[in-house]
Amino acid sequence: MNVASNPLDAGSNGNGERMSQESGAAIEAQGASRYYTMGETSVHAVEDVSFSIARGEFAALLGPSGSGKSTLLNLLAGLDRLSAGRVLVDGRDLSQMDSEALARHRRLTVGMVFQSFNLVPTMTLADNIELPLRFAETPRSGRRARVQELLSSVGLAHRAEHKPPELSGGEQQRAAIARALANRPAVLLADEPTGNLDSRNGQEVMSLLSELNRNMGVTVLMVTHDAALAARYARRSLHMADGRLLPSAEVQP
Ligand SMILES: Nc1ncnc2c1ncn2[C@@H]1O[C@H](COP(=O)(O)OP(=O)(O)OP(=O)(O)O)[C@@H](O)[C@H]1O
Ligand SMILES: [Mg+2]
Repeated sequence: MNVASNPLDAGSNGNGERMSQESGAAIEAQGASRYYTMGETSVHAVEDVSFSIARGEFAALLGPSGSGKSTLLNLLAGLDRLSAGRVLVDGRDLSQMDSEALARHRRLTVGMVFQSFNLVPTMTLADNIELPLRFAETPRSGRRARVQELLSSVGLAHRAEHKPPELSGGEQQRAAIARALANRPAVLLADEPTGNLDSRNGQEVMSLLSELNRNMGVTVLMVTHDAALAARYARRSLHMADGRLLPSAEVQP
């Protein structure tokens, strides 16, 4: 796959209000907790989680089903609100954000990739990838060139006018990655991006993610069930169990 050296440079999304300097962590969680109230009981989906991920890291988040991985990712993405603690992404404290600032965070600071791709099936790949640029009010004149650049960077330039159902799962996920990177986010959050793919397509998506991480400097935090894939591609693995982050000493090899 052809990833040009730096056409998609991360970390300069024009948001214009980054509080910390480039030296700060890309992601920082301090006692992050999310509780859900279910009638009389409270589900501690994420409990007192603290960690830091440096800019440019490629980290995997592992753990059994129900351990809180997606909940944690959604908190970082600004799709859900903390019950307690703080999370900072790209130097900004999400717990201090009003709904408008959170919407901007979702639009510009983070890109999200899901297991099920979540492309709009009736739109071409080019139109799918252009959507976040439209939401960010990128001038129309620059949008098509940017879409082409993004499609090329994930090896799909020749599929621009195809619709998602005409593509393989691997191709759809590559398009979803291009869409997630459209506004040059500082952080890419991926929730089981290879979960619906066979092993060959899964490896292709992983090697694309690690190429983009290296060449663009985008920080990647990826949830996976596949410890072998994590060991092969991620430079660091975090492990959750019952809503908590395991100290690395407790992780079974
Ligand atoms: N909206 C919600 N309301 C109530 N409980 C929830 C909600 N979302 C998640 N939970 C609970 O929080 C816990 C963590 O769920 P989460 O989806 O984060 O797990 P996960 O590690 O991503 O699991 P999987 O690997 O199966 O995707 C689970 O017990 C789940 O049932
Ligand atoms: Mg999950």
